[in-house]
Amino acid sequence: MDFLVCVADERHEHFAEEIVETIFLAAQQRGTGIARRTPEYVQSKMREGKAIIAVTSAGTFAGFCYIETWEHGRYVANSGLIVKPEFRKHNLARHIKRAAFDLSRSRYPDAKIFGITTSAAVMKINSELGYRPAHFLDLTQDEDFWNGCCSCPNHDILERTSRKMCLCTGMLFDPSEETSSTVAALVHIDIPIPQQP
Ligand SMILES: CC(C)(COP(=O)(O)OP(=O)(O)OC[C@H]1O[C@@H](n2cnc3c(N)ncnc32)[C@H](O)[C@@H]1OP(=O)(O)O)[C@@H](O)C(=O)NCCC(=O)NCCS
Repeated sequence: MDFLVCVADERHEHFAEEIVETIFLAAQQRGTGIARRTPEYVQSKMREGKAIIAVTSAGTFAGFCYIETWEHGRYVANSGLIVKPEFRKHNLARHIKRAAFDLSRSRYPDAKIFGITTSAAVMKINSELGYRPAHFLDLTQDEDFWNGCCSCPNHDILERTSRKMCLCTGMLFDPSEETSSTVAALVHIDIPIPQQP
């Protein structure tokens, strides 16, 4: 199956509704909470060039992820990763996460890149990209980021631990700890930009 993975732009805005719905349904199925995003928010990310989208060669939406900055660009989070159920297990999440990682590195080369997740697939992909498990106190302390956890059914755990730990694992890529092998991996990644129809 052929997919095009690229930086999203205005041409992909019509997918926003489907993206938000797919993320919401997946969270319901997994029993996890998410920082619920509106289609307008997803569209703004596309216009800002801060989202990665995957579409099939037939033009069907297949996957998505966006980047957000915290503490004035000191931290970047790759959030909202979703692959439509029928396209899973094709390495698509791996390609989307790599593209989001490259986008983050090129736009915010000095930022620490982080995420919190319960997903085994995401932990595996993040590790491949050079993230390591990190204490929540090493992640951004921006209130707005953590407020995104309020809709999670496990939020009481986060509150009880004064935001030090929860069921999610924190993962962090620190550019100051970058190894040469990570740099070598970066230069081989190509993000194709689709042609105008
Ligand atoms: C998690 C998700 C994005 C993975 O997408 P995907 O395209 O199927 O993942 P990939 O095919 O790129 O798989 C990457 C690796 O993760 C593994 N993996 C995929 N799904 C997995 C799962 N449910 N459990 C354990 N490992 C899994 C794959 O086997 C692969 O490793 P391998 O190459 O060593 O075998 C997708 O299942 C999804 O959208 N889930 C719902 C939303 C979600 O959980 N988002 C993450 C929020 S942090």
